[in-house]
Amino acid sequence: MRIAIITISDRAARGDYEDISGPAIEACLRGFVTSDFELVRRVVADGRALVADALMEYCDRDPVDLILTTGGTGPAPRDETPEAMQSVMEKELAGFGELMRRVSLEQTPTAILSRQTAGIRGQTLIINLPGRPAAIDICLRAVFPAVPYCLDLIG
Ligand code: MTE
Repeated sequence: MRIAIITISDRAARGDYEDISGPAIEACLRGFVTSDFELVRRVVADGRALVADALMEYCDRDPVDLILTTGGTGPAPRDETPEAMQSVMEKELAGFGELMRRVSLEQTPTAILSRQTAGIRGQTLIINLPGRPAAIDICLRAVFPAVPYCLDLIG
């Protein structure tokens, strides 16, 4: 399995702070994925066009099986990950966002602010995770059991 991790953050892209969310996804994957996987990682600034371009890179030009994004799913003006998703997805898998919000709401009422979703473009599954490292773990663990079967179905 080939996996791309895309951190979406203006401040991390500018170098104002180090990206800790991308490495948090990697650590989480290494904790519970037993099969071999190859990782590529990148950081992009917020904004619909930049995020859409990064998603298309890993769906079309340099395809991976799974893209995990982190960040940009909230309601702030620069949070446009869901808008980028809408422009690149061929099929939305709304159940992923529903489950991630459900498990997150057990921890914090602010999870209602998350607009995270998942979808398919070509043979790539894209899943949005929140930006906070503590939120990544609970969300990824909740949805990952469905990932291998989904990849089988779209492959
Ligand atoms: N989910 C969990 N599990 N824990 C959290 O702290 N924060 C919420 C939500 N989901 C949170 C969470 C908040 S405050 C926001 S604004 C949204 O995720 C969007 O986060 P993002 O813009 O970093 O993607």
